[in-house]
Amino acid sequence: MAILEKHKILEKNASLLLVFSFLVVTVGGLVEIAPLFYLENTIEEVEGVRPYSPMELEGRDIYVREGCYVCHSQMIRPMRDEVERYGHYSLAAESMYDHPFQWGSKRTGPDLARVGGRYSDDWHVQHLRDPQAMVPESIMPKYGFLENRMIDPTHIADKLRVHRMVGVPYTDEMIENAVADFNAQIDPFSDGADGLLERYPGAQVRNFDGKPGISEMDALVAYLQMLGTLVDFSTFEPHASR
Ligand code: HEC
Repeated sequence: MAILEKHKILEKNASLLLVFSFLVVTVGGLVEIAPLFYLENTIEEVEGVRPYSPMELEGRDIYVREGCYVCHSQMIRPMRDEVERYGHYSLAAESMYDHPFQWGSKRTGPDLARVGGRYSDDWHVQHLRDPQAMVPESIMPKYGFLENRMIDPTHIADKLRVHRMVGVPYTDEMIENAVADFNAQIDPFSDGADGLLERYPGAQVRNFDGKPGISEMDALVAYLQMLGTLVDFSTFEPHASR
């Protein structure tokens, strides 16, 4: 009973209670949070996940600039209705190279985490040009102007460098070849295509909008077509620990 008596002293003295509460929260916080500062990475690495190719990165930036995340999430939750509709639930590793991540918080349109490969390039181009032509009841805005905006790739190596600063493992070789890799991704017959595929396995190499030059449409469709395609879920097994 003595401990109860002592606890009553605490309960009746607001300042003392505050001091002890603070102590408890501090100890709890240290135990839970401090180890995270000493771990290099808390995300389980998954085979197939790699940094974005220069073209995909450029497309991702257009996705962010146009605010696609305002209407689209990229986060399939591990619930039956979501998994049946969109595919395997999202893994933390799948957005580990996203700065900032594109999980989103609202689904006016469908989740896009696994939209890659679901439609043809042509479908995407026509849908972005005029969503209502493909889905009459759609309220998605038109993005046809992207076709007429060509991308000048001179700044792309710098973008890779910035991502490296925040922890994306771009190598010196990737940065050196950034412009070449960017140009190679719309031309499967170019000399650079092999190097691109070596550096970014699984990258899709083709002329996405079917027109000459590399437009913002090309980059955006390249990005959409890779979403959710890097991990092979026919062989993937989740590990709780390793
Ligand atoms: C105002 C909300 C809104 C914005 C902003 C928006 N979308 Fe959509 N999106 C929708 C809606 C609603 C649908 C479902 C109807 C349709 O297919 O058009 C959709 C469908 C899609 C689909 C087809 C998905 C599927 O699985 O069928 C893709 C791909 C897509 N949007 C990409 C984009 C991209 C890329 C952007 C930014 C450039 C964007 N959306 C911006 C509302 C939006």
